[in-house]
Amino acid sequence: MSDSLPTPPAANSKPRSHFNNWISAIGGVVAAGGLFSFFFLAWMDLVKGDKNPYLGIFTYIVAPGFLIAGLALVFFGAWAQRRWAIKHAATMPDKWRLDFSNRTQRRRLLAFGASAALFIGLSAFGSFQTFHYSESTMFCGQVCHEAMNPEFVTYQRGAHARVACVECHVGSGAEHFIKAKINGTHQLIGVLLNNYNRPIETPVKNLRPAQDTCEKCHWPEKFAGNIQIDFEHFLSDKKNTSYTARMLLHVNKSAPGGLFGGIHWHVSKTDRVEYYAADFKRQDIPWMRVTNLQTGAAKVFRTEAFKGEPPADKIRVMDCIDCHNRPAHVFPTANAAVERSMAMGTLSTKLPNIKRVAVQALTQKEITSEAAAPQKIADFIRSKYTDPALAAEVAASVTAVQGVFATTVFPERKADWRVYPNNIGHKDWPGCFRCHDDKHKTADNQKVRSSDCNSCHVIIAQGKGADLETLSAKGFPFKHPDGDPDADLSCSDCHNGGIQK
Ligand code: HEC
Ligand code: HEC
Ligand code: HEC
Ligand code: HEC
Ligand code: HEC
Ligand code: HEC
Repeated sequence: MSDSLPTPPAANSKPRSHFNNWISAIGGVVAAGGLFSFFFLAWMDLVKGDKNPYLGIFTYIVAPGFLIAGLALVFFGAWAQRRWAIKHAATMPDKWRLDFSNRTQRRRLLAFGASAALFIGLSAFGSFQTFHYSESTMFCGQVCHEAMNPEFVTYQRGAHARVACVECHVGSGAEHFIKAKINGTHQLIGVLLNNYNRPIETPVKNLRPAQDTCEKCHWPEKFAGNIQIDFEHFLSDKKNTSYTARMLLHVNKSAPGGLFGGIHWHVSKTDRVEYYAADFKRQDIPWMRVTNLQTGAAKVFRTEAFKGEPPADKIRVMDCIDCHNRPAHVFPTANAAVERSMAMGTLSTKLPNIKRVAVQALTQKEITSEAAAPQKIADFIRSKYTDPALAAEVAASVTAVQGVFATTVFPERKADWRVYPNNIGHKDWPGCFRCHDDKHKTADNQKVRSSDCNSCHVIIAQGKGADLETLSAKGFPFKHPDGDPDADLSCSDCHNGGIQK
């Protein structure tokens, strides 16, 4: 490479490599650090990284990035040295030369060697930390702050707030490993380019099977008996009257045939339930099949409108996630979020009609960004209460409702209950009634069993205050707080999460 060079000025020094300079030396150390990190991370990735979708980006993009930057510096140093040599050939031949015979240079070189060793040591430490960091919940939930924020906020108040994202979202085994690496890289690039979907699509297509996730911690055999839940509500009347349904859910009622019965029968070892959903969000289910795993006998239920057979690759075996599709990220409805805040006492029930006003304030169409919300909510609530005697109550309510908004509605990500249905019940979304609705029948006209009000649960008490102390073991008929609705209507036809009337 030295053909165009002038002859070196000092006849006694032999021509030396242009790489012999400080810039190239620094580049060399950076490149060595990058190479080292690459091997280290690749090793961690292969040995322990099966649950980590994002490690790939550090291993295969960031570490090689350092390697390439280091190499570029090496060549830049050589190039600069050569330019210098050409320009200043006569006067100052060796500006950046490493010269071992020079004492000052030797001392500098020693310091340089020590820093280089330190740098490589640090890059080992850094890679190790990177590995742990990219596995952490903080990384998933907070670094991708804007993108994942709704999931992170809802996750933190859920029952699984201590379960790491990767426990549910990334599978083990070679196939999941590759899928997760590609997917993780794709996601990070989406965030960097700011072109990910808003809202992020649900259901998650390549979520690992429930047997691998949920059943690591929850054994279906371990669910026994009934679970009691109090559903606390407040009505949209002047007094914000409270209404509670105290219910016993037959999650695992002992059945004559063995261990499984009741709601968790769907995941029993005796039968398999499969279904076909006509829509992407699995809300419209026109066909299902129950197979007895001992005899192989199968029963097919379908709606009257659905003729023909479903595409074989679209048939899904029912598992935990078909009911518990929001184990970690519940997006409550505006109605439920306000009621919860009232039940907790954060939102006082003293202001007349505050239940209705609060739900309306949260669902204003004009709110299109997180930043604009607090002002819009304050204006709306203040406009409803002009009596100066209420000023203190109004101010407190404004703060409470603003707080509810921040954890319930995410306008910029377009994420809230309207796009993320919860399939566990049937009040605000179709849920169980997607199948248990008396509209699915077998060829010989059998309906889906357990579709009457007392087969999944009983209401052991309902109403407010003292009403809740009168218990019935057999269950009361449901007393709808707003009078008897038309029997043809499903609960979710009216209950859409916003204001009912
Ligand atoms: C207990 C298991 C579990 C944990 C822990 C968990 N998720 Fe999820 N996540 C799910 C399930 C189940 C779905 C919905 C899947 C479906 O409907 O197919 C989901 C959906 C999502 C979605 C898609 C949008 C949506 O809401 O449906 C994102 C994004 C997401 N999770 C991010 C995260 C992040 C970030 C964390 C950690 C802060 C996390 N998840 C922790 C189980 C979990
Ligand atoms: C790493 C262990 C772990 C995994 C994996 C896990 N869970 Fe849980 N889950 C827990 C723990 C611990 C609790 C109890 C939390 C508490 O009592 O506050 C719990 C509670 C629950 C509850 C009842 C609490 C409630 O009110 O929501 C449900 C339902 C549930 N899990 C479903 C699931 C489903 C569905 C999956 C799979 C998508 C899953 N879990 C995966 C550990 C786990
Ligand atoms: C047919 C729908 C359905 C399926 C399928 C289903 N569950 Fe449930 N599960 C329920 C309902 C309903 C409850 C009662 C709690 C409620 O309503 O929130 C419940 C309760 C639970 C609880 C809470 C127990 C407690 O003590 O609080 C856990 C944990 C749980 N299920 C885990 C699972 C796991 C794991 C699977 C898959 C193996 C599964 N469920 C499958 C509907 C279902
Ligand atoms: C994908 C359709 C589907 C969904 C969704 C569904 N089920 Fe079922 N369920 C079935 C089928 C099919 C049967 C069996 C019907 C038959 O053989 O007559 C059944 C049976 C049952 C039984 C009777 C079990 C026994 O002990 O014999 C209960 C209880 C039940 N379901 C509760 C629920 C609850 C609660 C939900 C919502 C959380 C739900 N189901 C959601 C399809 C579904
Ligand atoms: C296929 C099973 C099933 C059938 C049939 C069923 N329910 Fe439910 N219902 C559930 C489950 C599961 C929940 C709990 C939802 C949850 O955990 O959020 C529930 C919750 C409720 C609640 C409390 C909801 C709330 O948010 O306050 C009421 C009230 C209720 N059901 C009434 C009825 C009435 C009335 C009928 C008959 C028309 C009926 N249910 C039929 C499964 C069923
Ligand atoms: C015709 C429309 C309609 C139908 C159908 C309907 N509801 Fe309601 N429901 C209302 C109205 C209106 C209110 C009063 C809302 C308020 O005061 O905030 C109400 C109030 C309630 C409440 C208490 C307050 C609240 O906002 O949650 C519960 C619980 C409830 N309904 C459950 C159900 C269940 C379960 C079903 C299905 C079995 C059902 N409803 C069917 C219209 C309906």
